[in-house]
Amino acid sequence: MARSPTHQQEALELAITIFDSLPPAEKARQLANPEGEIGLAVAEFLNGNNRSANTSNLARLGLTAGQRVLEIGFGNGRAAADVLASSDKVQYAGIDISPTMVAEAVRFNAPSVAAGRATFHLGAADQMPFPDASFYAIFSSGVIHFWPDPDPSLRDLHRVLRPGGLSVHSCIDPRTAPPFALAEPGFHLRPAAEWDRLFRAAGFAEVAAEAVERDQLNSDGTPTKRYSVRVTARA
Ligand SMILES: C[S@@+](CC[C@H](N)C(=O)[O-])C[C@H]1O[C@@H](n2cnc3c(N)ncnc32)[C@H](O)[C@@H]1O
Repeated sequence: MARSPTHQQEALELAITIFDSLPPAEKARQLANPEGEIGLAVAEFLNGNNRSANTSNLARLGLTAGQRVLEIGFGNGRAAADVLASSDKVQYAGIDISPTMVAEAVRFNAPSVAAGRATFHLGAADQMPFPDASFYAIFSSGVIHFWPDPDPSLRDLHRVLRPGGLSVHSCIDPRTAPPFALAEPGFHLRPAAEWDRLFRAAGFAEVAAEAVERDQLNSDGTPTKRYSVRVTARA
């Protein structure tokens, strides 16, 4: 059910308080695989943080009616609602490793799920349950930097994308990483040039990896500017 702006603001403030109270390793663990009530709060915090990346990634995809789009690591499923609002004929599929996120994304997007316009799958990007060449476009925000060896996942992304299809991904730029984005709990940050090499090695033909400045939140909710790496890659 849609929330009023006041309720939405209160929920974001509560999420910020919860996220800020977590030790750095727990922040990282919950971002990599959100779990339980804390995971729901972390996902809410992320909506404030990743919204601008998701919006600009979707604009770059330029979706048109009838196209099937795939999101990797959809979190609580808020970007799915934006995709579905962009055209009444777009079909959305998402895949995420977190059972908590799958349940929350299905709950939030219940009318679209019931109408057959959105499906949310539990699973990992390196072994996706989709046929070859089944999507016109793929996107993700804040996901690919959790992959110690991105190659199997990038190859599976390439496999499910139609020839000529576009893939857009945002991830943390190591130059302005937040303090909790540490290697030990699971972040694998790479500069744009390294992502460029990895996407090409996985079979993508046209690749552009660049640093983009974004408005973000510190873990205490104060605004900040950070770079993220944005990879645009065509199959
Ligand atoms: C930091 S959250 C980002 C959520 C959402 N994209 C957003 O911008 O708010 C990362 C999400 O990616 C999911 N994830 C991590 N590794 C994954 C993988 N290998 N395959 C699919 N999902 C993954 C996590 O469960 C989590 O929901």
